[in-house]
Amino acid sequence: MLPNAGHINGHWQHGVVGTTTTARSHGGRLRKVGRRSRGGGGRDGYGDGHGGLPRDFSFADDGKQERNRPPCTDFDVAYFESYAHLGIHEQMIKDRTRTDTYRNAIFQYQDSIAGKVVVDVGCGTGILSIFCAQAGAKRVYAVDASDIAVQANEVVKSNNLSDIVIVLRGQIEEVEIDEEVDVIISEWMGYMLLYESMLGSVIFARDRWLKPGGLILPSNATLYMAPVTHPDRYSACIDFWRNVYGIDMSAMLPLAKQCAFEEPSVETISGENVMTWPHVVKHVDCYTVTMNELESVITKFKFKSMMRAPLNGFAFWFDVEFRGPVKFHTSKDASSSHSEIFENGSVDSSEKRGNPNELLVLSTAPEDPLTHWQQTLIYLYEPIEVEQDQIIEGLATLSQSKENHRFLNIHLEYASGGCSFVKMSVMR
Ligand SMILES: C[S@@+](CC[C@H](N)C(=O)[O-])C[C@H]1O[C@@H](n2cnc3c(N)ncnc32)[C@H](O)[C@@H]1O
Repeated sequence: MLPNAGHINGHWQHGVVGTTTTARSHGGRLRKVGRRSRGGGGRDGYGDGHGGLPRDFSFADDGKQERNRPPCTDFDVAYFESYAHLGIHEQMIKDRTRTDTYRNAIFQYQDSIAGKVVVDVGCGTGILSIFCAQAGAKRVYAVDASDIAVQANEVVKSNNLSDIVIVLRGQIEEVEIDEEVDVIISEWMGYMLLYESMLGSVIFARDRWLKPGGLILPSNATLYMAPVTHPDRYSACIDFWRNVYGIDMSAMLPLAKQCAFEEPSVETISGENVMTWPHVVKHVDCYTVTMNELESVITKFKFKSMMRAPLNGFAFWFDVEFRGPVKFHTSKDASSSHSEIFENGSVDSSEKRGNPNELLVLSTAPEDPLTHWQQTLIYLYEPIEVEQDQIIEGLATLSQSKENHRFLNIHLEYASGGCSFVKMSVMR
């Protein structure tokens, strides 16, 4: 159903890649909170000789020194603990679409990285920092508040890169880096782009350390939404209860709908589930975006269905672009946007950065190769039968939860065929 955007993930050639619908469990990129308390962790020589020590560093493992960590909410603790587990990093690294695109981007911009100072916001295992070192970076500050930083430091040492990659264990908002940087790299995107709210940490690093004209990878991100039909999914979860071994279990239906559809669902759909062209919910220019902009995103949508089908919900996905260094603005010039969004939702910032023919895009769209982000579905409790060309319109509000800013409140008002509805859910 959907057109291919003219790129294949991580490559520059044109083409269409087919996908099949594969229901997948809600796997843990950001895991649920509160599994274990924060351990002693450890720090082993991070930043030695480079003057880049984090304020909250500790030597818990070798017993040399221990300091109090800066105030950190229980949610933050749980968040960083979730990233201490190897499995989540394995999942991300094995997502070749993701990792290859980042590596391709680093080498595409090798001229801007070689001999330069880089900060990797949320380095995890250190993989992107090491790619930057391989691309010739003079120094890379690899920062992560999770205990995975301990492992990153070991990896850096065993690859003989300790002179270049300085692992700082701590929140980016707390570590000390005593010089301006030429490049910021970060893999900050959460489910439906905004979940996890990690982009705020990239903004912090940009405003604190990035030199005017510096490079940010990725440079842009766009969140899309579209109405979807998925009758098989509905049937499997709901209609199933109508006849269970010959027993009428319809009494379960309200509970089944609540259990199946109350929360956003991370799963894979195909282009055939998508009922019409997507709508741009939010475009982010990483050079200029502000924290305020991310607190609440409100968008009006109006779709014309290209098919006669039950409307089962709305799908969200995103892409990020890796554009070249800014030529005309500094990172501190947040007042002007570098990109223009046309009324049809397309985005143009080509005149200001890079060569559009070589634009690298990491897409999580249903018609593009599968990534670990999959797509995020907001299901309706009841399907709406929609005719071809029928209008589906409404308002979507995505806001950071007051309870925990990494959670996302999703408020949907939608109307079609004379009926209107409201659906609220929380991605936690
Ligand atoms: C999505 S992972 C990416 C890991 C690695 N860059 C990669 O590409 O495989 C994000 C990492 O950022 C870290 N992180 C998130 N917010 C952070 C912050 N404010 N300060 C330091 N690290 C942070 C998390 O602990 C996690 O390890």
